[in-house]
Amino acid sequence: MVTKMKHLLSLLEYNESEFVKVLDLAEKTKADWAKGKRPDLLPRKVLGLIFEKPSLRTRVSFEAAMMQMGGNSIFLGTSDGKIGVRETVADFSRTISHYVDAVVLRTFSHETVLEFAKNSTVPVINGLSDQFHPCQSVADILTIREAFGPKPGKTVVFVGDGNNVSRSLAIACALAGYHFILTGPKPYHFDTNFTNLFSKRFPKADLIQSTDANDSVKNADILYTDVWTSMGQESENEKRIKKFKDFQINDRLINKAPKHCKFMHCLPAHRGEEVTGSVIDGKASLVFEQAGNRMHAQKAILLDMILNSKK
Ligand code: CP
Ligand code: NVA
Repeated sequence: MVTKMKHLLSLLEYNESEFVKVLDLAEKTKADWAKGKRPDLLPRKVLGLIFEKPSLRTRVSFEAAMMQMGGNSIFLGTSDGKIGVRETVADFSRTISHYVDAVVLRTFSHETVLEFAKNSTVPVINGLSDQFHPCQSVADILTIREAFGPKPGKTVVFVGDGNNVSRSLAIACALAGYHFILTGPKPYHFDTNFTNLFSKRFPKADLIQSTDANDSVKNADILYTDVWTSMGQESENEKRIKKFKDFQINDRLINKAPKHCKFMHCLPAHRGEEVTGSVIDGKASLVFEQAGNRMHAQKAILLDMILNSKK
């Protein structure tokens, strides 16, 4: 069936049942792969990866996913730092649409992702912008479902910055029927643009923001964190370390959470800043299962985007 071309820019493109379908598909492709099934699900399809910033997990999991499904990928790291310097973002997008079946973009500005998608005739997948990291959140919810089962109602407490990872995670939790709490210093809570967007889309969902980490973690099923200084914010590093110092996930904080609570981090981690090595390497940690799930999530995203698009 030929349907309208899709993009995945923030996760807000999905409704609740579409999101569950992608998660179910990720579980199935993961289980099939473990059973030794090797179907060519995307034969001769080509994925373009255009990255303004470094990446280990996103790049390699997408490239490996394409190869495992019988397709291939082309990686373009922008040597001049940003897309839109050598030629406009629109010209770049309109050109590469003729060569590839989908594009993963990693950008500094989310505006670049929006401009690229507006001009693309193939699906555009946001592989991280300053605003959102939707592919990460698909793998995150897949990991939570594996650890706790598919039922809604879990409580995810994000300790740290109101950034790309926590924004997408908040959306993913709302789509999955989980409670979401952000705890961190007030100036780094979500901006009102995001909270307004969120409340409009999910009028019944929780979006609690607190400055008291000790209190917020009390009912957590999952404690999640990310770096205090994201790519592109390096000049703020010293200031951020001071502001976030009381929001480290360490043994003391994790001991205030329920015994069954699990720890997650999108990685890369700055050990000794937002999290201690003892927590990342401790028994509550799911971080490497979570990193591994990036590839199964990418497969489901690619199948959903490429097979359901009209090119
Ligand atoms: N979590 C994540 O997106 O990792 P990379 O920056 O290595 O892709
Ligand atoms: N918030 C981090 C996530 C890295 C995967 C960053 O943008 O650098």
